[in-house]
Amino acid sequence: MQQVIIIGASGHGKVVADTILQSGDRVRGFLDDNPELGESFIGFPVLGTVDQFVDYPDTKFVVAIGNAKIRENIVEKLAGVSWYTAIHPRAVISFLDTSIGEGTVVMADAVINAGAKIGNHCIINTGAVVEHDNRIEDFAHISVGAKLAGTVHVGKGTWIGIGATVKNNVEICEECMIGAGAVVVKNILSKGVYVGVPATYKQEVR
Ligand SMILES: CC(C)(COP(=O)(O)OP(=O)(O)OC[C@H]1O[C@@H](n2cnc3c(N)ncnc32)[C@H](O)[C@@H]1OP(=O)(O)O)[C@@H](O)C(=O)NCCC(=O)NCCS
Repeated sequence: MQQVIIIGASGHGKVVADTILQSGDRVRGFLDDNPELGESFIGFPVLGTVDQFVDYPDTKFVVAIGNAKIRENIVEKLAGVSWYTAIHPRAVISFLDTSIGEGTVVMADAVINAGAKIGNHCIINTGAVVEHDNRIEDFAHISVGAKLAGTVHVGKGTWIGIGATVKNNVEICEECMIGAGAVVVKNILSKGVYVGVPATYKQEVR
């Protein structure tokens, strides 16, 4: 059994906590910089601020913060810690040539199919489908119920919104936001927010 500290006491943090428990591991508590948090969060101790990670050398960590840039900054700050990869026992992960990087979380009912490679500190959210031969770069987030057909490439820190669909063989560059329910049918090679069916450029990422 592994002991895990979750960074980020939020709604996403709750789902990560549940995923850890369902995997048979132990949640030691949360670290979060929000001064308004009490002493406990969903029944687990709030141990202090993110800087207090140094007080727990014998523990694994996972960052449960949706914003990719914040997630990346925290990962840089905590360089050298041991990262926990949270995989819900009800996620379906092919035995054939898949890999899932450290610090990544894979929620219930997610599917990761043969040949798919998932980077570090990604979120493969509840019911997301990552089809065969996808490449998902570090810090990307595939939201609840999003579907990526075969051989899709999702760039670093890109967020695929809830229920979005990406056609096979499509590339989406780094730091994009694909809106809820969008359908991506062509390569997206410039950073930005893309929405609609088919997805088109809407605005800069804020
Ligand atoms: C795309 C998104 C990031 C834009 O958010 P925002 O920057 O706050 O933008 P706004 O809500 O001000 O909307 C800006 C414009 O885009 C449109 N828009 C926003 N989201 C859209 C979507 N998903 N599909 C189509 N149009 C959308 C708005 O209607 C608005 O259009 P207008 O300028 O013609 O009035 C957001 O709406 C979204 O889809 N987020 C997904 C969240 C998600 O997946 N969460 C799940 C986590 S598991």
